[in-house]
Parts: sequence; structure tokens; C-alpha cells
Amino acid sequence: MPGRGPKKRGRGGDPAEHLRSLTELLPTEAAADSEAWLPAPLDPAVLFSQPAAIELEVGCGKGLFLASAAEAQPKRNYLGVELAPGYAELTAARCAARGLPNAQVISGDATLLIRSLLADHCVQAVHVYFPDPWWKARHRKRRVLCQPFFQQAARILASDGTVHVWTDVEEYFLEAMDAAAATGLFQPPRSVPEPAAENDFDYRTHFERRTRLAEKPVWRAELDRTDLSPPHRQPITPYERIRLQTAAAKTGHPGRPTE
Ligand SMILES: C[S@@+](CC[C@H](N)C(=O)[O-])C[C@H]1O[C@@H](n2cnc3c(N)ncnc32)[C@H](O)[C@@H]1O
Repeated sequence: MPGRGPKKRGRGGDPAEHLRSLTELLPTEAAADSEAWLPAPLDPAVLFSQPAAIELEVGCGKGLFLASAAEAQPKRNYLGVELAPGYAELTAARCAARGLPNAQVISGDATLLIRSLLADHCVQAVHVYFPDPWWKARHRKRRVLCQPFFQQAARILASDGTVHVWTDVEEYFLEAMDAAAATGLFQPPRSVPEPAAENDFDYRTHFERRTRLAEKPVWRAELDRTDLSPPHRQPITPYERIRLQTAAAKTGHPGRPTE
């Protein structure tokens, strides 16, 4: 693939085979610079070798959940999306080391991927574990879990799909549950009992391990879709396009050719 640096090999395979950048998944065509742009939708099934239900993890961090779930459920496909490029690479390396053809990672902004690129009804589950709480008031708008997120999560979910939310921040958890309820697109949340953890790999994610070893509480919920219709995909703004073009210029990924 153009622009990719030297390939690092894990024990089981090539990390580059598990890693895509968001910019390489955007179509090469674009609207005029001043216009909002609605790219052709992406069916994430094209990223996997087997046809199977896809589960999406937002902010997969170092990839403990993505790799463990893909290993435990080889007949399902797991797609992680991670904003920090170094963590996206770590997750891809973990998937390669374990030889997991059913695990893929996208390096980029999950909000943009979900809101503007992924096709309707293309995933069976959306997992969000320990999203950044962004404590400062001026950073609050960066919180991933908000009403527009739940609207778009409902759009990409299958009609019997589920959103999984775990966090150690009670206030963010309650805010997120209110945001989901306000959409009308999810049933009331089911709480999830704390699973037993006897060794390091029994935790779902690195942050769950860290929180529980510090003996702090974790809030967990699953939200199933209702049958109301969600809103349409939202376009990429001109400002976001400039950011994406800058990222594409850095990585050398021109985008996916349009059909
Ligand atoms: C607190 S960490 C939790 C990581 C992992 N889920 C866990 O539980 O160990 C939050 C992660 O979400 C990622 N993140 C934050 N905003 C994001 C976004 N808009 N798109 C994708 N990843 C994001 C961060 O880079 C970070 O790796």
C-alpha cells in the first residue's frame, strides 16, 4: 500500500494487514472546497476476508478487547477505530501477533467515521469502553458519547443491534444514558453485572483492569435499538475536510477510488 513505512512483523503476521487509516478509506472524489461533502458510504465488510457480522469498537486503545473478542469469536468480525495513531498501531500489532484475520483497526476519528462514512445497518454492535471524560468545561464538546453519536450509532446498527458502554465516570455515564434516551432510538439501558476477574486477561480492557485494580467502581450498560428510524448520514464539513486532506498528505494515502 502506498505511503506505508517499513513493515513490522509480529509472531503471527504483518501488522499492516490489520491497519487502515481513515483517510485511505475516504473516496478520492470530493465536493468543491467550500461545500460540505457526503462521501460514498463505506461498507466495512470490504475490510474483512470472511463475510460475518461486524462489531465496532470506538477508541480501542491498546486493543485488549478487540483482540480478545476476535480470538474468542472467530466467526464474527471486529473493527476498532482509534484516534491516537500509536495505539492504533499497537492494536494492529496485537492482532497480527495473535494471527486474527477477523480483526481490523482504523486509525482516525470515530465520530467522523460513524457520522459521515459508515453505511446504514452495517454493524451488529458498537462498543465504547472508558471514553475520555474531557473534564475541562471548554473540552466537554470533545466527549464522544452525546446525542448525535447515539443517533448515528443507531443508524449504523442492525435493527437488533446493541451499544455497549462501560466507564469509570458516573457523571459521564448518566449524561450518556440521558443522551441515548433523548434520541428515542434505544430501549432503556440494561445494566451489566461485574464479571469475575481472576487474572490479568479477564478484564475487558486495559482501563477496566486499571480501574478495578484501584478498587474503583465501573458503570456498565447495554442499549438495544428501538424500531424508530434514525437520521441520515451527515456530511463532512469544509473544516474537517482540510484536516483530513492534511492527514492524507502526511501519510501519502490518496483515498479509495470511487466506483
Ligand atoms: C481512556 S482511553 C480507553 C481505551 C480503551 N477503550 C480501554 O478501555 O482501555 C480512550 C481512548 O479513546 C481514544 N479516542 C478518544 N477520542 C476518540 C475518537 N474521536 N475516535 C477514536 N478514538 C478516540 C483515545 O485515543 C484513547 O485511546
